[in-house]
Amino acid sequence: MKIAFTGATGHFGSIVAEALLKSVPADSLVASVRNPEKAENLRARGVDVRQGDFDKPETLDAAFAGVDRLLIVSADGDNDTRIRQHKAAVDAAVRAGVGFIAYTSVGRADSSSLFLAPVHKETEQFIRESGIPYSFLRNNWYLENEAGSIQAVQAGAPWLTSAGEGKVGWATRRDYAEAAAAVLTSEGHNNTVYELSGTPVTQAELAAIVGEVLGKEVQVQQVDDAAYSSIMAGAGVPEAALPIVVGIQRAIREGALDITSGDFAKLLQRPLTPLSEGVRELLKA
Ligand SMILES: NC(=O)c1ccc[n+]([C@@H]2O[C@H](COP(=O)([O-])OP(=O)(O)OC[C@H]3O[C@@H](n4cnc5c(N)ncnc54)[C@H](OP(=O)(O)O)[C@@H]3O)[C@@H](O)[C@H]2O)c1
Repeated sequence: MKIAFTGATGHFGSIVAEALLKSVPADSLVASVRNPEKAENLRARGVDVRQGDFDKPETLDAAFAGVDRLLIVSADGDNDTRIRQHKAAVDAAVRAGVGFIAYTSVGRADSSSLFLAPVHKETEQFIRESGIPYSFLRNNWYLENEAGSIQAVQAGAPWLTSAGEGKVGWATRRDYAEAAAAVLTSEGHNNTVYELSGTPVTQAELAAIVGEVLGKEVQVQQVDDAAYSSIMAGAGVPEAALPIVVGIQRAIREGALDITSGDFAKLLQRPLTPLSEGVRELLKA
C-alpha cells in the first residue's frame, strides 16, 4: 500500500508526515512536493520524495504513479490559481489510477459564505466527478490563524474583532493534520465528508482562554468592519489583504464557522487538544 501526500514541505503536510511515520513504514510513503530539495529530511528517513508541482501536471503523473491513497493538501494561492492547481492534481490522480483521495477542504464547503469556500466547493466537485473514492476533511479554522492576535494581546493590546458573537471551531493545526493521517492509514473512509471542528467558541471566549494562559485580563474590543479594516491597515496589513481579513470576520459573525460535529474526536480517537494548550504552544514558538 503506497500512501502519498502533497504539501509535505508545508506546515500542515510536515505534521502529516510525522504522524504517518509513526504508524506506517517509511517505504510505504510518497511525499509529493514542488521542491524536493526542501524535503531532504524526509528522504533521509526513507520516504520516497518525488517532485509534484500542481503547475506542472506532467510532474504529477510521476509523483502519483503506483499510489493507492493520496492526500491533496489544498494550495495557498488565489482562488483561480488554486482551482486550476487542484483540478490538475485530481486529473493526474485519475490518470495514475489512485484508489482514494483525501482532500483538505473547509467547513460546509458546499454552502459556506466564507470567501475561501468556492475553491473547496469546486475541488470537492472535481473529486466527486473523478469517480475516485474520497474523504473530504473539512477543516474548520486553525488556532494558528490567531497567532498575531495572541501575540498582540501578550504585548498589551486588546483582542480586536468585528465578528461579534460568531463562533469558530478552532483547533490546532496538529490535530487537523493528525486526523488527516488517521484517514490515510485506516479503513472505512470511502466517500465520507468530515466536518472537523473544535467546540465552537466566540472571540471573547477565546480571548478569555488567552487571558487565562497569560495570567491577565484581556480586554475585548468589538468594532464594526470599517473600524476593523482601518485598525488592521494601521497595524501593517497590506491593502490587498484587508478585504480578506474583514471578510473572515464577517463570515464568522454570520456563523460560517459555527459548526458542531463529533467527527474530529472520532477520527483522532482521543479528545482534541485543549485550546489553552494550543495557545501555550503558540506563545512558546
Ligand atoms: N482551515 C484553516 O484555518 C486554514 C488555514 C490556513 C491554511 N489553510 C489551507 O490549508 C493548506 C495547508 O496549510 P499550511 O498551513 O500547511 O499552509 P502552507 O504551509 O502554506 O502549505 C501550502 C502547501 O501547498 C504547497 N503548494 C503550493 N503551491 C504548490 C504547487 N504549485 N504545487 C505543489 N504544491 C504546492 C506548498 O508547497 P511549498 O512547501 O513548496 O511552499 C505548501 O507545502 C493551505 O494551503 C490552505 O489551503 C487552512
